[in-house]
Amino acid sequence: MSEPLPGSDVVAATAVAHVNIALIKYWGKAEENLILPRTSSLSLTLDDLYTTTTVAFTAPGGTGASKDTVMLDGAALSGSPLNRIHDFLDLVRGRAAQAGSPVGFARVETFNTVPTAAGLASSASGFAALAGAASAAAGLDLSPRELSRLARRGSGSASRSIFGGLAVWHAGHDDESSFAEPVPGDLDLAIIVLVIDAGPKAVSSREAMRRTVATSPDYNAWVERSADDLREALSAIAAGNIARLGAVSESNAWGMHAAMRSAMPPVNYLTANSITAVDAVREIREAGAPAWATMDAGPNVKVLTSATAADEVEASLRGRLTGVIPGLRTIVARSGPGLEVRSVAGAIAPMTR
Ligand code: PMV
Repeated sequence: MSEPLPGSDVVAATAVAHVNIALIKYWGKAEENLILPRTSSLSLTLDDLYTTTTVAFTAPGGTGASKDTVMLDGAALSGSPLNRIHDFLDLVRGRAAQAGSPVGFARVETFNTVPTAAGLASSASGFAALAGAASAAAGLDLSPRELSRLARRGSGSASRSIFGGLAVWHAGHDDESSFAEPVPGDLDLAIIVLVIDAGPKAVSSREAMRRTVATSPDYNAWVERSADDLREALSAIAAGNIARLGAVSESNAWGMHAAMRSAMPPVNYLTANSITAVDAVREIREAGAPAWATMDAGPNVKVLTSATAADEVEASLRGRLTGVIPGLRTIVARSGPGLEVRSVAGAIAPMTR
């Protein structure tokens, strides 16, 4: 899957991974270094929101780069975002060396169709795409499960973006047992993203999780309830019952935000406009629309609905919220595909469904 670039000592590959939105949330780590979560989680991968990443490795000790460079949407990264990618590439380099085909520094180019760091899970699609491109460029032939475990080391939620549609990330208890896999089912789901504020978040999810785990008196109760929530969600999916899935998703998200808000100092990602949006979702649901809200590490509200009702639900939310939430943007996304890896020559090889 990787190809030497003509006339150089570089191997490169490109991967595309899509954003996922958690219906049952991951919030809090049991182990920081391996990114083992305290809870298992469930998500939907979306179609129109994705990251495309190309990784080119120089040969070790080659004439090329003397450090990793990363371009995100055309601008060079530096500081801690760059270090985080460097550390992740070190994992890939370690594995390539173990496999007997070491690689050197990397040039990474990545493009998002998602506003970065706006609670729209760009780190999920970002690290899933990076895992796919870097491992392919390094000549590692990883299974979807291995890719999920590798992506997890960059950002926990990235473990789920390896797969299309609904995916469950099993918390596990060590590196091997903590991975995502697809959830079969016939529900034809969509998510409407109400983009309330696309600016970067004030507190990183990493820091906010630490604070919640360490100080929130409500956190352990949420963790316990989360196991029941996941069982209920999986049973609702198996029964093809979107109303049950929506209800448990909304309540799981509120529980996560309640635990954050009782952390010290409190973490509050939601704004007055987020609450206005959630109220509108409840109102249209009470009027008969299939619509349930979920919120992540940012002020934007995501609305779970059915693929058939999505356009109508979007129109009615837009009707209620235009002029009420200044600058509101809406994105209608349906169930999307899993990771795809292409060689530099451009042939697409689907890795997962
Ligand atoms: O993977 P991270 O560190 O970006 O954390 C994601 C956390 C939430 O988006 C709030 C929930 C989730 O399960 O995706």
